Amino acid sequence: MFVPVERSKDKEENYRLLLENLPHYIDKDTPWYTTLANAASVIDYFLSDVNWVGFYIVEKDALYLGPFQGLAGCLKILSGQGVCGTALARKETVIVDDVHDFSGHITCDAATESEIVVPLLKGGRVIAVLDIDSPKKARFDTKDRKWLEKVSALLVDNLG
Ligand code: SME
Repeated sequence: MFVPVERSKDKEENYRLLLENLPHYIDKDTPWYTTLANAASVIDYFLSDVNWVGFYIVEKDALYLGPFQGLAGCLKILSGQGVCGTALARKETVIVDDVHDFSGHITCDAATESEIVVPLLKGGRVIAVLDIDSPKKARFDTKDRKWLEKVSALLVDNLG
């Protein structure tokens, strides 16, 4: 059961709370999808101004929809396609201030204006990506990148 923690108005404080609380809702002895399902919910709780939080899982050269919070997403994204496929191909975080300016952006929720995609890297290989959408333009910056890469590393260490 999720015990709601009071959220701060300060973005970095919320990330500290997220990193402190997330370990209570995941368990190495459960399958990866169980961990990522709770992670999507807890991340969604601690971030403001987001309309989609979820994971795409790598299988062969494509990404497949994994656990998420938000409207139904597209099922499969090839490497190099959209923001998620770009993060997979580059093996690095991609921040898009305005999705309408990103050529090849794949729309899941028409309300989305900006997006961040953070790879989950294990031994130099991308095993999944964390995708977060916002209805606000330029919602994500280098601070989000820094904290979400810590979240990504925590998840990789705890995937069963
Ligand atoms: N916008 C993503 C697709 C996934 S949805 O946002 C959930 C992309 O361009 O890869």
